[in-house]
Amino acid sequence: MIEAAVAPRPVTPVGIVAERLGRAEERLVAAGVADDLLVELRHAMRVAEGLEPYVEAHTSPESEALAGLARLTAATDWASGNTDGGPALEQEMLSGHVEGAFLAFLVRATGARRVLEVGMFTGYAALAMAEALPASGAAGEDCEVVALELDPRAVEVAREGFAASPAGARVRIEEGPAAESLARLAAAGERFDLVFVDADKGGYAGYLDQLLAGDLLARGAVVAIDNTLLQGEPWAESPSANGSAIAAFNDRVAADPGWERVLVPLRDGVTLLRRRDT
Ligand SMILES: C[S@@+](CC[C@H](N)C(=O)[O-])C[C@H]1O[C@@H](n2cnc3c(N)ncnc32)[C@H](O)[C@@H]1O
Repeated sequence: MIEAAVAPRPVTPVGIVAERLGRAEERLVAAGVADDLLVELRHAMRVAEGLEPYVEAHTSPESEALAGLARLTAATDWASGNTDGGPALEQEMLSGHVEGAFLAFLVRATGARRVLEVGMFTGYAALAMAEALPASGAAGEDCEVVALELDPRAVEVAREGFAASPAGARVRIEEGPAAESLARLAAAGERFDLVFVDADKGGYAGYLDQLLAGDLLARGAVVAIDNTLLQGEPWAESPSANGSAIAAFNDRVAADPGWERVLVPLRDGVTLLRRRDT
């Protein structure tokens, strides 16, 4: 079995809260604070630390192919390849068990036949959604996930993971900058029932514009946008470039009454969108 070379760092608001509380506890114990204060703190720690494991334990299990893809991703040395000006990749980018199950649930619940992912990384979400697709649509059309990815290292790992699963054949990878791929898909008249946006955060607003302008959304399509809580940055601290981009994106979507929307606080936040006029 492949083991992660390094334990993943927390990348969700609640994971960050748990880590910070742990650090505060160490300092408060060293400072000899009163026991009743530590009781309060430790209760908050238990709630924060236990949330994600509890959610995982009560979510449908992942397939062996998805678990294998997660292991493969964790065992890959991303840092040494992060030098060529492309996106800086890290194992923490992987969406993972609960988010994969959530997206698979959306595929089944919406009856999606054609799915688009913007920002595939090593393909965890793409494979999770492909596993949930029927073999063919009601009209006999092919069901597929079209997954856009810029980085060839991520694509290589994804292809290896997809080869281990029959559902992997239902993922069509489009390599290159997502904006160019979206323009190509629009020119080809492709349309999608479900879109998962999870690439560069500064590109989100442009991708949403392209989905609309390029007529890439089928009637009633659902758009799921990842990382819309961005580790708490939009409201809790002076944000990084990604945090600012997400804050601006969230405000922009909220200001457009044409979107029906809900920000689901799952993992690092997933906003679900649907045009009201379709
Ligand atoms: C957070 S990861 C995606 C995780 C993936 N959705 C999953 O389920 O594990 C973001 C990915 O977007 C890719 N990316 C960043 N900028 C991009 C761009 N302009 N075009 C296409 N892909 C891009 C990165 O290379 C990275 O693999």
